[in-house]
Amino acid sequence: MRPSGASILACLLWITGIEAYFGIDYHAKASYFNFQVNGNSLYVFGLNVAANGDIYFHMSGPVIHTWLGIGFGSEMKDALMIIAYPSANGLNTTISTRLGSGHTEPVYTPDFEIINIYNDTYAPNADTVTDRGTGTIISHAMCRNCTTWPTGSLDLHSTEQPMIFALGPSQHFGSDSVEASIPRHSLYGQFTVDMTKATNYTGWYGRVPAPNIPDFIYPPNDTSFASFGTSPSFNVVTMSNPMPTAHALLMCAAFVLIFPMGAVVMQFLRKTLWHGAIQIVGFVAVLAGFGVGINVARQYNKSKNFSSGHQVLGLIILAGLLIQLGLGLLHHAIFVRTKQPTIIGRIHFFLGPSIMLLGLINIGVGFNFAGNSRMNIPYAIVVVAIALIIAGSTGCLVYCRSRRKYKPEPPHPQFGQQPGYSDYEMPRQPTFGEQPPEAYEPPTPYSPIGHFTIDSPYTPLSAYTPVTPKTWKKEDITNWPHWPHAKDDYQ
Ligand code: HEM
Ligand code: HEM
Ligand code: HEM
Ligand SMILES: *[C@@H]1O[C@H](CO)[C@@H](O)[C@H](O)[C@H]1NC(C)=O
Ligand SMILES: *[C@@H]1O[C@H](CO)[C@@H](O)[C@H](O)[C@H]1NC(C)=O
Ligand SMILES: *[C@@H]1O[C@H](CO)[C@@H](O)[C@H](O)[C@H]1NC(C)=O
Ligand SMILES: *[C@@H]1O[C@H](CO)[C@@H](O)[C@H](O)[C@H]1NC(C)=O
Ligand SMILES: *[C@@H]1O[C@H](CO)[C@@H](O)[C@H](O)[C@H]1NC(C)=O
Repeated sequence: MRPSGASILACLLWITGIEAYFGIDYHAKASYFNFQVNGNSLYVFGLNVAANGDIYFHMSGPVIHTWLGIGFGSEMKDALMIIAYPSANGLNTTISTRLGSGHTEPVYTPDFEIINIYNDTYAPNADTVTDRGTGTIISHAMCRNCTTWPTGSLDLHSTEQPMIFALGPSQHFGSDSVEASIPRHSLYGQFTVDMTKATNYTGWYGRVPAPNIPDFIYPPNDTSFASFGTSPSFNVVTMSNPMPTAHALLMCAAFVLIFPMGAVVMQFLRKTLWHGAIQIVGFVAVLAGFGVGINVARQYNKSKNFSSGHQVLGLIILAGLLIQLGLGLLHHAIFVRTKQPTIIGRIHFFLGPSIMLLGLINIGVGFNFAGNSRMNIPYAIVVVAIALIIAGSTGCLVYCRSRRKYKPEPPHPQFGQQPGYSDYEMPRQPTFGEQPPEAYEPPTPYSPIGHFTIDSPYTPLSAYTPVTPKTWKKEDITNWPHWPHAKDDYQ
């Protein structure tokens, strides 16, 4: 804010030589707004209105803020907004006219025509992002007949016409589409414009104001700005948007950590209650993430109808989890009474990994949906790392178990006392013939054939009650019918 803005302008009007040289039209009326933090201009807006309703405007700010927006009105609701963001290649500026409907993403309206103006000599970077896409978003254009819109209008005679402005979060973003989904602002505020200083009441003629009123001897450039005919900013609020991140974190925690952990606990430790408890925690995390997801979804045009692939898949996954949870509880309840495997347990066994896989996929889909596709690389690395850890420990466990499995060929009368045989898992191995072999171990992971014939992981020993001690014979082993997988161990 420079208090001398008006006098500078007056002096400039006086020194008409500069006008001739730099192509600045000091006869055209204009108001300027310059929002600075620590001396850096974060948001610059210049306005010139012609009597026929055409609005000539300049709006610029650092590209790290993703997008810049001006709104005509005192709040988002019913405001006509003009939003500028980098094009898909990051080098040009896309300008989108939108109508606000509340505290949600404003909706693109095709009723207004934006005409980019490239031939102002003082604005060589018009409608580009300077410094090869790393500097300043510069929108420099005319909005045809923009002083009235379906839900409001500019009061061209007001000395305090309310305006709102906002800046996006620092995020990588760019699109050629005027309907692109923009992330929520990280800063917003208000100011008022003296429209009498900005409006030409006598005709159609207008010029995009050079926002950077030059000091006397300097030509206008992208770093020197002034305020004129506008109030200082007020009600400026910086707000972060932790919700999408919370949604992503909860979902990642559930599908990358908790559910796999629960599956591993089931697979290797056969602790059904631990498994159930862990998976319920995961389910609660998904529910919480879903609640946050609904909240986020309401704010954006792309998601407010719940029709995007990510959301539909998410809802399918949620339904699947609900079924999975019910099946798990039901199977367990039945099993506790009957000690028999159930078809429900089978379905649970297959549905679980399928849902977990879908969830992992939907995380990647979600990152794309949020315009955060860069996250997919670290995400994929983490998933692969965890998969490798699980696969590695699985392989190791399977190997260890295959070593310690009961192996009658060749028969070892003193099985347990073999030299070199580690007895850490079987402290006292009885002599062959005295006792049945150790309870059958859980099979290799995801080896359903072996798996299903086990009655239940919860109480594995119960499955082997028919094989009582006393008359144990080798034939009993070969006739052992139920474990096709385990047969390998007896060949
Ligand atoms: C994705 C797009 C957007 C979303 C989701 C969004 C969301 C919101 C929300 C939730 C608030 C309430 C903040 C609070 O309670 O502290 C708000 C306020 C505000 N937003 Fe936005 N906004 C969006 C775009 C914009 C744009 C483009 C502008 C300006 C051009 C803007 C300007 C403002 C202003 C000035 C306020 C405070 C006044 C009011 O309550 O309306 N917003 N916005
Ligand atoms: C939404 C939550 C749940 C998910 C995602 C889930 C997932 C799974 C998965 C992936 C498996 C296969 C594990 C393996 O490799 O052995 C499994 C097996 C099993 N789960 Fe769950 N589970 C959930 C909830 C429950 C609950 C609440 C219980 C009961 C307390 C339960 C009981 C079981 C049992 C008994 C098995 C073994 C089934 C069999 O081998 O036939 N699960 N579950
Ligand atoms: C259950 C499976 C789901 C998973 C694993 C999941 C995961 C994710 C992830 C990782 C993101 C990226 C967030 C970011 O980068 O900031 C995301 C975005 C999003 N998700 Fe989900 N989600 C699921 C279900 C849902 C559902 C059911 C909804 C809607 C009700 C939803 C709404 C959204 C929305 C609106 C975004 C975009 C947020 C933004 O643009 O910043 N998600 N999701
Ligand atoms: C970006 O601007 C340059 C220079 O004005 C132009 O040549 C190019 O076609 C523009 N690209 C897009 C996608 O508009
Ligand atoms: C810029 O171009 C428009 C249309 O091509 C023209 O009407 C206008 O006079 C030009 N302005 C300048 C300053 O050259
Ligand atoms: C401007 O738009 C209004 C409606 O918003 C319309 O009534 C009027 O005719 C338009 N004027 C011109 C010059 O197009
Ligand atoms: C207003 O517009 C008319 C033409 O429509 C033009 O001659 C005049 O110079 C403009 N006045 C200002 C202050 O821009
Ligand atoms: C822009 O102009 C100001 C004075 O108005 C000057 O101090 C600054 O060095 C100039 N910046 C560039 C990049 O020319």
